[in-house]
Amino acid sequence: MRVPSLRGTGERALADAPPGSGLAAVLGEPGLPVVGKTLAFMRQGPALSLEHYRRFGPVSWANVFGMRMVLVLGPDAAQVVLVNKDKVFSQSGWEWFIGPFFKRGLMLLDGDEHHLHRRIMQEAFTRPRLESYLLQAGAIVDEQVPTWPTGIPFLLYPAVKELSLDVATAVFMGSGQTGETEEVQKAFVDCVRAGLSLVRFPVPGLRWHRGLKGRRVLEDYFRERIPTKRASADEDLFAALCHVETDEGQSFSDDDVVNHMIFLMMAAHDTSTITATAACWFLARNPEWQERCREESQAVVDMAAAGPIDLPGTEKLESLDLVFSEAMRLVTPVPGMARRAVRDAEILGRHVPAGTMVLVSSWASHLIPELWADAETFDPTRFDEPRREDRQHRFANLAFGGGVHKCIGMHFGRAEVKAILHRLLLTYRIEVPADYEVRWDMTSLPTPADGLPVVLHRL
Ligand code: HEM
Repeated sequence: MRVPSLRGTGERALADAPPGSGLAAVLGEPGLPVVGKTLAFMRQGPALSLEHYRRFGPVSWANVFGMRMVLVLGPDAAQVVLVNKDKVFSQSGWEWFIGPFFKRGLMLLDGDEHHLHRRIMQEAFTRPRLESYLLQAGAIVDEQVPTWPTGIPFLLYPAVKELSLDVATAVFMGSGQTGETEEVQKAFVDCVRAGLSLVRFPVPGLRWHRGLKGRRVLEDYFRERIPTKRASADEDLFAALCHVETDEGQSFSDDDVVNHMIFLMMAAHDTSTITATAACWFLARNPEWQERCREESQAVVDMAAAGPIDLPGTEKLESLDLVFSEAMRLVTPVPGMARRAVRDAEILGRHVPAGTMVLVSSWASHLIPELWADAETFDPTRFDEPRREDRQHRFANLAFGGGVHKCIGMHFGRAEVKAILHRLLLTYRIEVPADYEVRWDMTSLPTPADGLPVVLHRL
């Protein structure tokens, strides 16, 4: 991946550090009048943060979306923000991006309230439940993937998106009726797209308006179905949220279930789609890794009874695991983590004034050369023994976040993506033309701008 150079418009301090505090000001650059660096931020993904890192160090600032945003890169600075020892960095940073559409989702809660909700939700992510979710997901994957067309350019991204949305609808909502779920799926897509709207108030026909409408559709959908789910013995995530209880008897209210379901659907499906698509792209581009992973998949199938791959099966796919981690390093599905300083704060000796938006730039952190050898090159062995570049620091690999908000679905996400790639590898050889280079659209979460045309050859 090429990181373009951005021309500067003048270094400035974000705010003077309080006298006698011993802190230094955060340095950075506002960018152009009015728009600041918003366009670079939206179009160039990690490039803006990397450029700032080179010029100003791990903590810098820029004007983005009309606000002063502190950019945080590298494991030490990320650790300060994500561990959040003094409880000064609030999840309300996310409010600005996705608040109206995903309000009161787990990721938007702070402190004791977050702790309680996370403890309850954890009960829906126990290993026996994950095993059950994966078997349901695997059945859909094994039904859909082998029907994909061969020998012609085939747009991988929309196909994986449809697949993972179907998986999410079945496994999380327990619904398999296409007519009913189409409207719900559209509502999700509208909510996700609304997050990075430039026009951030409702104008009919524009993203923000569609997102708000989508939210209402989703609220009605889940609320109507709660009584039936509470009374059911279903094994989907929706039913789990209706039933789970901590040892002390704490459980979710109807409002909680609605809010968590809407957030979970979003958190689960886009991220898995991007990871599976990116991994597939790297497998197509690196046939030796494709072959290595395929051999492992074949060995797992030889050992197991026919049927969808189970959780222990996915854990045996070690090479695929390396590819998975490397794909998320190079194309980080959640490119940054938003926080807001609720009081004056300090990051590595720099003064961050109360109210400032703080963005932990995870994607850019995965490309800093001090940590990752030949950082822009696809090389899954960096995650293998003895190199383990990801183990140099607890906060080196930020793909699933870190601290108390670390992704609760990471084991399921990993297993689901591996189940998709496993079936793909067993069914097809994946090819892209030698002169083809994918371009990632970064105006929202990273997605291939042209849908990523691949050619599948049946084995
Ligand atoms: C490859 C797939 C995935 C990636 C890359 C990913 C990434 C992330 C990241 C980076 C965070 C931390 C955000 C922050 O600290 O601000 C997060 C949180 C979260 N993720 Fe995931 N995720 C994935 C899959 C999933 C799945 C499958 C689920 C649910 C089934 C899920 C549910 C959540 C939830 C609920 C949170 C909020 C946790 C909290 O605040 O305590 N994610 N995810």
